[in-house]
Amino acid sequence: MSASSPFALSLPNRPARAHPPFALSLLKRRRRHSGLSLLLLAMAGAAPAQDEVPFITTPDTVTLAMLQLAGVGPADTLVDLGSGDGRIVITAARRFGARGLGVEIVPELVAKSRTNARAAGVANRADFREQDLFTLDLAPYSVITMYLLPQVNLQLRPRLLALKPGTRIVSHDRDLGDWQPDRSLTLDVPDKPIGRDKKSTLHLWVVPARLAGWWCGADVALHVAQHYQQVSVTMQRRGQAAPAYVFDGRARADGLHEGEQAAAAGVVASLDGEALRMTRVRGVAAIGFEGTRLRASGVACF
Ligand SMILES: C[S@@+](CC[C@H](N)C(=O)[O-])C[C@H]1O[C@@H](n2cnc3c(N)ncnc32)[C@H](O)[C@@H]1O
Repeated sequence: MSASSPFALSLPNRPARAHPPFALSLLKRRRRHSGLSLLLLAMAGAAPAQDEVPFITTPDTVTLAMLQLAGVGPADTLVDLGSGDGRIVITAARRFGARGLGVEIVPELVAKSRTNARAAGVANRADFREQDLFTLDLAPYSVITMYLLPQVNLQLRPRLLALKPGTRIVSHDRDLGDWQPDRSLTLDVPDKPIGRDKKSTLHLWVVPARLAGWWCGADVALHVAQHYQQVSVTMQRRGQAAPAYVFDGRARADGLHEGEQAAAAGVVASLDGEALRMTRVRGVAAIGFEGTRLRASGVACF
């Protein structure tokens, strides 16, 4: 990292007693995270002084990789949940032309982030706020980045899954439990401040379309069972008890495809507002589908 880097002034060694220790400020602000300080210690793989928990930054190479994995660009509005010294939001603005917000509960880090954004010349596109990430409305953001703890990710998961389909979520080192990532990659990170193996794993999730339920066409009904991106689809013809076609597939932001890999898709259905259109059917050419969501409960398509 060059001396002119806006991150050169990051806070690896916060003064031990100049302000409430990080662990204490967390515990005071959010009692239900009482295990957080211990887990941050575990993340650090170190035993710091009892009254100080290290602030852990995402190394710059990993920051770049996270933003590339999310495909961040000028049209994006990104939020980093627990933004530390602001490097992810600042890099998104400076290198990728995005707008961004960092929310962080440690006031000194918010001040440092603002200073870093000014030094990087992106203060007009990189905003920082002292706020508990659990109180932030996530809906306005197209990309969400996180370097948090496993149980914090799990608490966030229902809110992330409910976001607009197509929203990208990238997490450094921590996953979202049984919500499988759409992509993961592991990097060698020799300058990683924590851990013995000097590797970082990044995960990307794209919020899938919500397809579960019945879809009614003129002569074909389609039932979708959905677990995150995994879908199981049954097509039923009017007047026939046996399913006409059954397949497992994957929900995307704007529809679904058959099988795990988009490239191998035999069935592609696209969601256009409330209409679902099956545009390609492998081996069952006679079955096309165009239908709308069955909103009422307790009734059938036909
Ligand atoms: C591991 S650091 C990651 C910093 C930065 N995102 C990065 O990747 O370099 C986690 C950050 O989350 C902040 N944090 C923890 N709990 C938070 C909460 N409830 N609301 C906002 N920030 C929080 C911590 O103060 C810390 O700066």
